[in-house]
Amino acid sequence: MYLGDQATTLKRMAYGKMSGSNLRVLAVSSGKGGVGKTNFVANLAYALSKRGKKVLVVDADLGLNNIDILLGLAPQKHIGHVLAGESNVEDIILRGPADIHILPAGDGLQELTQLQSEKKMLLMDELDRVSQGYDFLIFDTGAGVSTNVTYFCSAAHETILIATTEPTSLTDVYALMKILHTKHAQKHFRMVINSVSSEREAQGVYRNLTAVTDRFLKDISVEYLGYILQDPNVPKAVRQQKAFLELYPFSKFSGCLNELAEKISKEKPSPLSGEGDQPYFWRSAFQVQ
Ligand SMILES: Nc1ncnc2c1ncn2[C@@H]1O[C@H](COP(=O)(O)OP(=O)(O)O)[C@@H](O)[C@H]1O
Ligand SMILES: [Mg+2]
Repeated sequence: MYLGDQATTLKRMAYGKMSGSNLRVLAVSSGKGGVGKTNFVANLAYALSKRGKKVLVVDADLGLNNIDILLGLAPQKHIGHVLAGESNVEDIILRGPADIHILPAGDGLQELTQLQSEKKMLLMDELDRVSQGYDFLIFDTGAGVSTNVTYFCSAAHETILIATTEPTSLTDVYALMKILHTKHAQKHFRMVINSVSSEREAQGVYRNLTAVTDRFLKDISVEYLGYILQDPNVPKAVRQQKAFLELYPFSKFSGCLNELAEKISKEKPSPLSGEGDQPYFWRSAFQVQ
């Protein structure tokens, strides 16, 4: 049995007893790197926070250009320090603009998916305790089909995939969906098309993608969640290490992000069927029994 299958099963079980919790766990990923995931996560988190939601971004990308750099934050510690018993979870959480919270994962998060120990279970409990205070946990994952990415996607309640108009971004996101479906039984994906010149262009990209998934991945549903316009000021905000929405709140790009945040914040987490006694996300998703 794949880790992902277990994560999916446990996730379903978790919903049985999670009715009291409003926590929604979103994983944001893509087939290819550099398509705008981290920018999307930072600004979505900002926009959700401005709508009164409590958001914790989990930096689950082990690559470069992570969310802390994007927002000009300097993490001193990460989950590895918690695992080593040097810090507790609250101490490593960073505060970003609009009071979004960021959990720097470092190498520690990967360890979570592999370790089996009492220490790990204690950490899961601590992460669950801390997570109860949030409305959203957003995982900024890396790109591609590495186990690190697929693990977080299959553990999360919802997977948001980012693609652009570039053909390679589409072939790679198709490959990711195929792996998530065939190896991790994932059936539902939400698409955001980034860096487009119009919504029409985004819908065209979405149609091209679903023409292929409808034919070759018949059991999955790929939902069009929204689009983000290409904006020459995005690299400027990146250089200034500020959230784009903070610097250019009235731009069309910010309009797109606000629309996405509005839609997401109004949704109720869809209860999945199943029963179980795993009340919390981290323990149920990462503690493979
Ligand atoms: N809508 C956009 N318009 C213009 N540039 C963008 C847009 N989205 C992302 N970018 C640029 O693309 C680059 C990669 O974005 P990033 O969020 O780091 O991608 P990823 O996390 O997928 O690797 C950044 O330099 C950013 O400035
Ligand atoms: Mg990134």
